[in-house]
Amino acid sequence: MANGNSQQTGEGGQQRRVPAPAEPSGGSRPQRAPHLRGESRQGVVQTGEGARAMVTQAQRRRARQGQVTRRQLLRVSFWGFFTFGLTGGLGAFLSNFWPRGVTGFGGRITVGASAVPDVGADPAPIQIGKFYLSHLRAGDGTHAGFGTEGDEGLLALWWKCPHLGCTIPWRAGFPFEGVTGWFRCPCHGSTYTKGGIRVFGPAPRPMDTMEITVNSDGSLTVNTGNIKKGGEDNPQRTTSYG
Ligand code: FES
Repeated sequence: MANGNSQQTGEGGQQRRVPAPAEPSGGSRPQRAPHLRGESRQGVVQTGEGARAMVTQAQRRRARQGQVTRRQLLRVSFWGFFTFGLTGGLGAFLSNFWPRGVTGFGGRITVGASAVPDVGADPAPIQIGKFYLSHLRAGDGTHAGFGTEGDEGLLALWWKCPHLGCTIPWRAGFPFEGVTGWFRCPCHGSTYTKGGIRVFGPAPRPMDTMEITVNSDGSLTVNTGNIKKGGEDNPQRTTSYG
């Protein structure tokens, strides 16, 4: 066991022992050489190329640590934004297909009892729901072999033409084949009975119908989000009223 500290010298940074500083009188602690760089541990110092290599390694290690930190930050940011976007998109998707509290077209519309047309009267337009309320007598709504007869009751007919989507008005004074009063599309002339049965024109089917529920106070709830494609059985889809 030799007294003293190890010190690296030369090209290879070889260690040599350096004598320990003389113990100062009075028992005070020894002083390390303040000008030496690359000190690795107490009592061992590096000089020359060895010290530079140690400093470079330390710098590389610190640089690597900095890069890892940035990479982790980027990864966390990416997944954070990805999760946020996915959650938002999923929420919007579900909200779209799960409408709550919709009160206009696409939701449930309440029609007061006073707005319900009498049996056999002209169909009444319900603007907010984009449909006509038609109150058919038993056997109404067919014409010249078109449509199948049904019972007395109410029909909610979507006013969108099944041909190209024009809005179909009820024309109370329009005469056609000996009958006055038809739904008549202004775009290409498709013509429908009071029950929405197509009797003329390019429309591919009768007018579409909506679900009706009769409430205890005589009002109606029409579900404009529940639309059924029109068919020859439209007059049989009536809802009994009164
Ligand atoms: S859009 Fe109604 S007949 Fe063409």
